[in-house]
Amino acid sequence: MANHKRPPASLIFIFGGSGDLNYRKLSPALYNLFIDQWMPDKFGIVGIGRSPYNDEDYRVRLFNGIKQFSRRKMEENEQWGAFSQHVTYLQMDAEKDNDYSKIADIVKAKEAEMGEHPNVIFYLSVAPQLMPDIAKKLGALKICSDTSTTRIVIEKPFGHDLKSAHELNQLLMSDFKEEQIYRIDHYLGKESVQNILSLRFANALFEPIWNRNYIEHVQITVAETVGVEGRGGYYESSGALRDMVQNHILQLMCMIAMEAPVNFEANEIRNKKVDVLNAIRRISKEDVNQYAVRGQYGEGWMKGEKVPGYKQEKSVNPSSSVETFAAVKFYIDNWRWQDVPFYVRTGKRMNQKASNITIQFKKAPSYAFPPEAAETWKANRLTISIQPEMEVRLRFQAKRAGQSMTLNPVEMIFNPKDNEHEPEAYETLLLDVMEGNPTLFMRADQVEAAWKIVMPILETWESRPPASFPNYSPDSWGPEDADALIARDGLNWITMPPTQ
Ligand code: BG6
Repeated sequence: MANHKRPPASLIFIFGGSGDLNYRKLSPALYNLFIDQWMPDKFGIVGIGRSPYNDEDYRVRLFNGIKQFSRRKMEENEQWGAFSQHVTYLQMDAEKDNDYSKIADIVKAKEAEMGEHPNVIFYLSVAPQLMPDIAKKLGALKICSDTSTTRIVIEKPFGHDLKSAHELNQLLMSDFKEEQIYRIDHYLGKESVQNILSLRFANALFEPIWNRNYIEHVQITVAETVGVEGRGGYYESSGALRDMVQNHILQLMCMIAMEAPVNFEANEIRNKKVDVLNAIRRISKEDVNQYAVRGQYGEGWMKGEKVPGYKQEKSVNPSSSVETFAAVKFYIDNWRWQDVPFYVRTGKRMNQKASNITIQFKKAPSYAFPPEAAETWKANRLTISIQPEMEVRLRFQAKRAGQSMTLNPVEMIFNPKDNEHEPEAYETLLLDVMEGNPTLFMRADQVEAAWKIVMPILETWESRPPASFPNYSPDSWGPEDADALIARDGLNWITMPPTQ
């Protein structure tokens, strides 16, 4: 959020070093930071895993991931040679106490090599059930009591429900101070998500009308075309509500609904966001069916290709009742938002990969215009596209050229089309961790407040198996019940034209 500086010397340990997240996201991000000269002058990256690699094989593996997944299309070059010398691999069993002394030894050796004590960052990108044990074992290392330079980064999911999230918070806070704990929600690192704050608070235009007097409703869609991508094992214990709504979507809602911060300090921003979460109306278990809809994709066709249904995916129970789609209607009970519905939906195997936020304004009175002018009248609408491209569209009425007063809705579009230079979310977040800026990370109370909101829905869904799963086809916009959820209020889901 603040302007970045080049961070001080840093040593990053990645638990899950041979895993998928490191392969697709973390290593490409660190390498891009290096190319853009954001990595510290002195740094080391240590991948930790059980698989046997020597340093050279490990580097080759990472570079394959970078070639495939980096925002920059690249071939091996001098920069890679220089970067890869900072990368090493530590084979260890994270469940064995004794192996942790290897970490302490590496820290000592690096300290001597760098000639100073670096930031020591432990990035936990491991299965959720391993998190508490690793955190505990790290906590026992002397180095972790150094609150100014030692940090622990926790990948999502943060807990499985309110109780486990609370327990994980307690456990972390018994060995680490809150300022050392970086709970990741990678949506907060996206450029387009950060842009919401500039749009709202750096323009005189929007803030005065950003409330229940002018806004009719808000929609948030986070749609993906992919299925569970071989992550069936994880997804079976998650589902769309836990995987996307509890974290990413509620965070987007906070960005849209929060009050203006007085500064961009971490605690100020986080306080304003937690206020939103605390004001979201609790959905009682009896009302869950009125406010929430779930879906699961069946087998079918996606852009001409046959795809399996969720139940046929690898590591998924063939009679699974886990949802791959969720839609919820929320209300925020405060002065700004009372009675303005926020409709949110997310799903896998949907028709488009698109994440959009739509602010639908109330209709302006049209009585002064001839009746035919009002026929094509459409209320103002602001659409903020998060992906595939950052885009902002503002719809308003304009007169069509000619002798009659005919009105047409037209759009002003802002699209910087600068994907090549747009840092990936993980670049921004890793840089923040090295700098020691927790603004874009979740504080303990934020995570728990978000769990409180989804718990009644989760518990109700778990206690009442769905009547008819699968209930939507691939390449669609989810189950019919989701359309009914919003149609009951006389509205429909807004779908953006695909970007060209
Ligand atoms: C992750 C979820 O947090 O976000 C995945 O676990 C999902 O299931 C992913 O696919 C979506 O992220 P993005 O950045 O591609 O929208």
